[in-house]
Amino acid sequence: MQNSDLMDKIVSLCKRRGFVFPGSEIYGGLANSFDYGPLGVELKNNIKNLWWERFVHRRDDIVGLDAALIMNTKVWEASGHVGAFNDPMVECKNCHERYRADQINTNEPCQKCGKKTFTGVKQFNTMFKTNLGPVEDEKSTVYLRPETAQGMFVNFKNILDTTRKTLPFGIAQIGQVFRNEITPGNFIFRTREFEQMEIEYFVKPDEWEKWFEYWMEEQKEWLKEVGIFEQAVFVEISEADRAHYSKRSVDTEYKFPFGQKELYGLAYRTDYDLARHQEMSGQSLEYTDPQTNEKFLPHVVEPTWGVSRTFLAVLCSAYREEEDRVYLSLPPKLAPYKVAVFPLLKNKPELVTKAREIYHDLQKDFTVAWDDRGNVGKRYYSQDEIGTPFCVTVDFDSLEDGSVTVRDRDTKEQPRVKIAELKEYLLNKI
Ligand code: GAP
Repeated sequence: MQNSDLMDKIVSLCKRRGFVFPGSEIYGGLANSFDYGPLGVELKNNIKNLWWERFVHRRDDIVGLDAALIMNTKVWEASGHVGAFNDPMVECKNCHERYRADQINTNEPCQKCGKKTFTGVKQFNTMFKTNLGPVEDEKSTVYLRPETAQGMFVNFKNILDTTRKTLPFGIAQIGQVFRNEITPGNFIFRTREFEQMEIEYFVKPDEWEKWFEYWMEEQKEWLKEVGIFEQAVFVEISEADRAHYSKRSVDTEYKFPFGQKELYGLAYRTDYDLARHQEMSGQSLEYTDPQTNEKFLPHVVEPTWGVSRTFLAVLCSAYREEEDRVYLSLPPKLAPYKVAVFPLLKNKPELVTKAREIYHDLQKDFTVAWDDRGNVGKRYYSQDEIGTPFCVTVDFDSLEDGSVTVRDRDTKEQPRVKIAELKEYLLNKI
């Protein structure tokens, strides 16, 4: 399959089945904004929940945070974002189309109007500005956060005081961020609002290299868990291309249908952020080693994950076409519905009653779809396309022998399973 075809098919499936809709569609849309539909919100929540479970709940050394989206403007002055969160931009003098200077060759004609008259490179700060309260002046200017990270740095002391964690330990956060990207695009790949899942991992200064390697491995394990490791590539970022706060960065790139692009980041932020906040706030952010009583600023290793890029990569890796069907081979943990329940025939009340009973019982443990339209073949086709790993059919034998057919999405096998053992059977597979 051509790569552009694959992308078109994924975008179309997302719209048709309720994963992702174009934003504000009834008003003609809003460029590069998207809404997650009934299935999309389930997939997105499953990604976030799996991440939180893996990196917060199943560990002793990481705690969570949910910080405000709008922070004191001094936070962004201290972090360097007011001064350095810029993208170099050029503008076509004829049609005023804007491009990221690092993404086009200004000797070539403008991609929109064909003229060759570009301005020089200007720096464009990509933070969204707004005002707090009714007066729009410089004093009331605030920014929508462009990364979740700063919430974790400014709460470092609060978390230390309330949790009594000792180094190494991390703070994790999932949340919405905003960037006024010059060239958003490629569906949900680059948008102006998106969610991040980030960890700031605080370590002793001389141990950062060890923890950097550790987090590289952890990111790989995550890629395997969500089924996207095979298409991932790891890229050392040169000094010239690193963010202003980073002394070492390794990006995870993914082979998307539109090219190999950044999926996740890993950065060694040194003590840059804590030092800047300590200096600007006048508050000590030092850590006291409980053994030696030595005071120092911890260093930070930061693994970061984009939620929508994970969503897109998961869909790209899961998409399969066979002669008679399209299916999403999603890891069961991520599938919007874990199981679908069908009565073999809609007009046989005894089958419907039994199937409803099973449906309601399974709902206590799983997200369950109900389908009684058309024939069973069509229902399988419909569930395959949205990645439902198991379909349970209640037929006439079920009423006699207390068992159902459980059809596997990937293998199409259909073993009979006792209704009394159905939950256990599914729990073992999901
Ligand atoms: N705190 C570090 C940080 O924000 P980043 O590389 O700028 O680092 C982290 O962003 C991740 O956020 C990226 O690896 C990517 O997954 C995601 N991301 C960045 N810009 C994005 C955009 N415009 N649309 C969707 N996801 C984006």
